[in-house]
Amino acid sequence: MAKRAILAVATLKGGSGKSTLASCLAVHWRLAGRDPVLVDADPQRSLARLAARPRALGGVPVIENCSEDVIETARSLPRKRGPVVIDTAGFRAPATLAALAAADLVVVPVKASPLDVDVMIDTARTLFATRDGSVARFRCVLTQTTRDSVIARHIRAELAAAGFPLFESELVNRIAYSEAALYGATPSMTEPHGAAAREIAALAAEIDFALTLARETA
Ligand SMILES: Nc1ncnc2c1ncn2[C@@H]1O[C@H](COP(=O)(O)OP(=O)(O)OP(=O)(O)O)[C@@H](O)[C@H]1O
Ligand SMILES: [Mg+2]
Repeated sequence: MAKRAILAVATLKGGSGKSTLASCLAVHWRLAGRDPVLVDADPQRSLARLAARPRALGGVPVIENCSEDVIETARSLPRKRGPVVIDTAGFRAPATLAALAAADLVVVPVKASPLDVDVMIDTARTLFATRDGSVARFRCVLTQTTRDSVIARHIRAELAAAGFPLFESELVNRIAYSEAALYGATPSMTEPHGAAAREIAALAAEIDFALTLARETA
């Protein structure tokens, strides 16, 4: 069996939705019959705490490692069909840098907020420059958006102008995300046919495709 793909979720600003994104993707893949693993590299332990709630992220295993050897942890997992999804802390943390340097794909959630755009783009340059001169395999995803809002369109345009690849799918600001998290679940578990579950599935499909490309060109 092929090696597992490693996906890192890294943020530019706190609260941009990376733990939510990491958990939603992993649960989606699990419900699709695959065997994803979550690695919690954030000392805040958001994923570990979610897994301790009653619905336990649908049984997706959560491994905690906030140290630089987080990638060794990810690589040492038994070969199975499902990606390893690493949720990171602030991007200056050694575990984040290690994950950025070695992941097959880095997904960067960007909160669609007008005050954040310039700072976000500046910080993104720093973040993506940390990949040891290798071709950065990163993609941004808009989170907590208001569908078809002016600001989301504006941020899309600014990211494109700055040369940052962006997934077509976005995660809309929906109460379903935090309500599901109350029980350690995600919308794919609580409302499998709802709008949030559909947008997670669409993003997961885009990420699967990007992961395949990233690994083929590695
Ligand atoms: N699409 C969404 N719709 C509504 N609420 C959301 C969405 N995504 C995330 N949230 C909420 O926003 C808050 C921050 O999300 P989350 O904890 O995933 O961010 P984070 O980037 O992991 O934060 P931190 O930097 O603290 O690790 C949480 O309360 C979460 O429930
Ligand atoms: Mg988090």
